[in-house]
Amino acid sequence: MSSNVVPMTEELAPGKPGKNFVRVPLPMDAAPELVIDTSGDDERMWMQLSDNVWIRPLMLNVVQGSWVNILKAKAGGIVSRHRHPAMVTGYTLDGAWGYLEHDWVATKGTFIFEPAGETHTLVVDPKVGHMTTLFHNMGPLLYVDENGKQTGYEDVFTRIEKFRAYYRQNGLGEGFIEQLIR
Ligand SMILES: [Fe+2]
Repeated sequence: MSSNVVPMTEELAPGKPGKNFVRVPLPMDAAPELVIDTSGDDERMWMQLSDNVWIRPLMLNVVQGSWVNILKAKAGGIVSRHRHPAMVTGYTLDGAWGYLEHDWVATKGTFIFEPAGETHTLVVDPKVGHMTTLFHNMGPLLYVDENGKQTGYEDVFTRIEKFRAYYRQNGLGEGFIEQLIR
């Protein structure tokens, strides 16, 4: 009888499946996994994006043009108006924030999905004064004016270039960003 349930002959723990456990391997063409413990982060891992806004990259996908990062902002922090031509998801880790274009406020534990085509301006809730959120950007940010006309952009490649220059300059080295690229 086949089963994907391991007999409980000994206490199971991550990486310690027991002697009778058979591990099904990754396909040989699969990308290597990425496991990042951010609990030991220091401030050098956070690149400043603008006044009171910082970003910590986690994974940069140069095949799909998507990336995952943590965004941290303090009172007055703003990410100026931009359009997402691909969907975005976010999960709030701390604080409170939202978009000038929407009346909801995301707080710790709030998940958001923004559809492709969404244009918004990110702000910190001034009543709380800070936010930390995990974002998965499935595509670029197109900065736009009040008429929706594009004025600039960020995609996974501009992000990587800026992170590379930043980590080179602050001593962490280019390898810090390169290990996050898939
Ligand atoms: Fe956005």
